[in-house]
Amino acid sequence: AASFKPSRTVVLVGLMGSGKSSVGRKLAHRLALPFRDADIEIEHAAGLSIPEIFATHGEAYFRDGERRVIARLLDEPVHILATGGGAFMDGRTRAAIAAKGISIWLRVELDELVRRTARRHHRPLLNQGEPRQILAGLMELRYPVYAGADIIVDGGAGDVDEMVDRVLAAL
Ligand code: S3P
Repeated sequence: AASFKPSRTVVLVGLMGSGKSSVGRKLAHRLALPFRDADIEIEHAAGLSIPEIFATHGEAYFRDGERRVIARLLDEPVHILATGGGAFMDGRTRAAIAAKGISIWLRVELDELVRRTARRHHRPLLNQGEPRQILAGLMELRYPVYAGADIIVDGGAGDVDEMVDRVLAAL
């Protein structure tokens, strides 16, 4: 059991495929803290899957729900929180995380993101064209913003345990 406990909720940010959910789950286990995944909480709140939310209500509706869900989670006791890749792009969400959490960007290069996202098909943003091109465009828009996270960790090299080790070393 880990003796170290972060004093604030640890919020994982980064692009789709950066490992937020898998690293977050294992990090929570190692720290004996609860794990929350904002995408799953949104799905529960809406009673719909993320692709269904996008298809039925549109992205703006999803973003609104995402912001409210994360605000609510940040008011819960200290835990490990994985966010969807777009969450940190919302200025109000960034302000809430800055006030109540510790943000960690799992930084991963394009080739690796393409590899990791190829296996799964539940991401509406990647179904709108050529995944590599979409991810490259999102990197350009988002990496300058993700760079404002409190801590930046290399999420590209090694297995999940090694990534968790790097996060723990950085905390
Ligand atoms: C999104 C990422 C997804 C999910 C939604 C939109 C994004 O989460 O929130 O499909 O805008 O990057 P993951 O980063 O967990 O795949």
